[in-house]
Amino acid sequence: MKTLVIVAHPNIEQSKVNKTWMNRLQQEDVTINNLYEKYPHFEIDVEKEQQLLLDHDRIVFQFPLYWYSTPALLKQWQDSVLTYGFAYGSEGTKLRGKEFMLAISTGGPAQAYQSGGLNHYSMSELTRPLQATANLCGMHFLPSFLLQGVMNVTEEVLQESAEELAAYVTNPNLRVSR
Ligand SMILES: Cc1cc2nc3c(=O)[nH]c(=O)nc-3n(C[C@H](O)[C@H](O)[C@H](O)COP(=O)(O)O)c2cc1C
Repeated sequence: MKTLVIVAHPNIEQSKVNKTWMNRLQQEDVTINNLYEKYPHFEIDVEKEQQLLLDHDRIVFQFPLYWYSTPALLKQWQDSVLTYGFAYGSEGTKLRGKEFMLAISTGGPAQAYQSGGLNHYSMSELTRPLQATANLCGMHFLPSFLLQGVMNVTEEVLQESAEELAAYVTNPNLRVSR
């Protein structure tokens, strides 16, 4: 099972969570695809990105939640790379059967992401467009890996989450819930 981790953080040097996660994942047998480093001007090499997808069986989107969604370059990546005839459409079967998962950090704490909470909606609800995308492309959408309330997260919890993410990304079946 070859795993591709697509990291989208506009300022990874100043990141706490996503940088820690990415550095930890670099120790695993996975391919890290750091989008903002590769495409600072949003000029995505579509063929190269499609080839990367073809070469892997499990695709991970790793990003900080920005306005209840992905950072802009990851949306641009979806719009450019998931083309008709490649990712969807009667001949667009190239992603079929692959696994797909999200690893997301959020400023808001977990209890804010529920009915009656500050943000009203759960992370499952807010990530529905990505789940629908996976469905349309015939990919298996796995449970998301979340670290929430990151403003107050301790170094210990951050390091623990990096270990858990490394274990989850390399073996989603072994996930123990937090
Ligand atoms: C432009 C922007 C939008 C954000 N939108 C949200 C949001 O919708 N919900 C939320 O919980 N946190 C939001 N945040 C907080 C980030 O998710 C948080 O800073 C990030 O997950 C921390 O990860 P990092 O240490 O890798 O930067 C936002 C931050 C920025 C800069």
